[in-house]
Amino acid sequence: MRYKDTMPDPPVVAVRDLKQHAGETVTVRGWLYNRRSSKKLHFLQVRDGTGIVQAVAGIDDVGPELFEVASRLDREAAIVVQGSVSTDERAPGGVELHVQSVECVAPAQDYPLGKKDHGPDFLLGHRHLWLRSRRPTAVLRVRDTVIRAIRDFFHRRGFVNVDAPILTPAACEGTTTLFEVDYFDLGKAYLTQSGQLYMEAAAMALGKVYCFGPTFRAEKSKTRRHLTEFWMVEPEEAWATLDDVMDLAEAFLCAIVERVLEENRADLETLERDPAPLEKIQAPFPRITYDEAAAILKEKAGFEYGSDLGAPDETALSAKYERPLMIHRWPHEVKAFYMKRDPKNDKLALGVDVIAPEGFGEIIGGGERASSLEFLERQLREQELPEEAFGWYLDLRRYGSVPHGGFGLGLERTVAWICGLKHLREAIPFPRMLTRIYP
Ligand code: 4AD
Ligand code: MG
Repeated sequence: MRYKDTMPDPPVVAVRDLKQHAGETVTVRGWLYNRRSSKKLHFLQVRDGTGIVQAVAGIDDVGPELFEVASRLDREAAIVVQGSVSTDERAPGGVELHVQSVECVAPAQDYPLGKKDHGPDFLLGHRHLWLRSRRPTAVLRVRDTVIRAIRDFFHRRGFVNVDAPILTPAACEGTTTLFEVDYFDLGKAYLTQSGQLYMEAAAMALGKVYCFGPTFRAEKSKTRRHLTEFWMVEPEEAWATLDDVMDLAEAFLCAIVERVLEENRADLETLERDPAPLEKIQAPFPRITYDEAAAILKEKAGFEYGSDLGAPDETALSAKYERPLMIHRWPHEVKAFYMKRDPKNDKLALGVDVIAPEGFGEIIGGGERASSLEFLERQLREQELPEEAFGWYLDLRRYGSVPHGGFGLGLERTVAWICGLKHLREAIPFPRMLTRIYP
């Protein structure tokens, strides 16, 4: 037996599909989102995960007994409502339900989230319940679309999805943000900061590959733009140069934004996100060098040539453009050990950062990788990275090394930008931050 077999007629219809059932009598299963009542009428907002519908229960239609049941329903009580669907252009979703019967399946006494404004700490501590509210569900639907757009984009272009390990023997993005784990008799292991090094191996096997999974950084600062656990998608391509990497990133971002505009207009509206800036996300994107960026920032007090860009620098730069900004050719000191040097200037690494418009900061980091064995051996020594842990990585340069490159896109940064969220914590179902691991 399935739960649905226990359901009486009329058939269960998702709120999203009610419009196609105008004039019919249906069953809606869900939770009470809200209620307004007068002496003879209840207006029940019923949500089922696909949408919210207003169900009108009149005492004359349902009888005094059911009317009394309805008047005792708590917010978020699980309910089953039966009624006829009528189109009403004024109603959200364009339909209303005229209730014939209502059953309380499970109460939700003293549901802790009220209609009043709660502070972020309270909401985050109740994230498991907060997820039921309008804003979080809209964000989660956009996130789902972004994930599908990502997979479809790479699949259409012939990239093979290869999963990178989560437990790793060494750092990829600097040793200061590593999460350590005791690994049996083998000593320390680390939660992955990036699957890139493994994608380089996979690219030499399959040509075009990507991984897409959780990554971890022990970020010890509290910022709006950092999580300790976040999702990253990382394409890697054999024979690709820095320019190829930038072309790929540009087409990729356009495809993601286009897909959200196609599928999630209603969610963007719920989030009060103006779609106009997103409609401007079209190729080509501006591409400037780090030197050019530094010259722009020089007018701003405090920026020192050679340093990494801080969030305020990124915001100042992005304000000049309506499209994502690509900054390439960085002082090698601020970039990772694996980056190829510019053959025209050994001080510069062939890396690229992509900065989202409207002050949402860096969403992509990547570039062309060093393909020379001698160069990488020197880099490991200079940066005091353990050569034994990187033996396999150096093998990639010993056996058929070719130019290659790729990038990593932060999923939460991208969702935050598209949804217009000020803080990354809203862009992931259960955020992990310096001061938060519950729920
Ligand atoms: O710029 P990052 O550190 O680049 C890499 O990890 C490369 N190995 C990727 C590659 O070339 N395959 O990180 C890439 C992106 C950033 O641009 C940002 O969007 C996101 O990952 N990111 C974070 N997102 C949330 N919280 C954090 N602590 C993040 N750190 C990086
Ligand atoms: Mg970066």
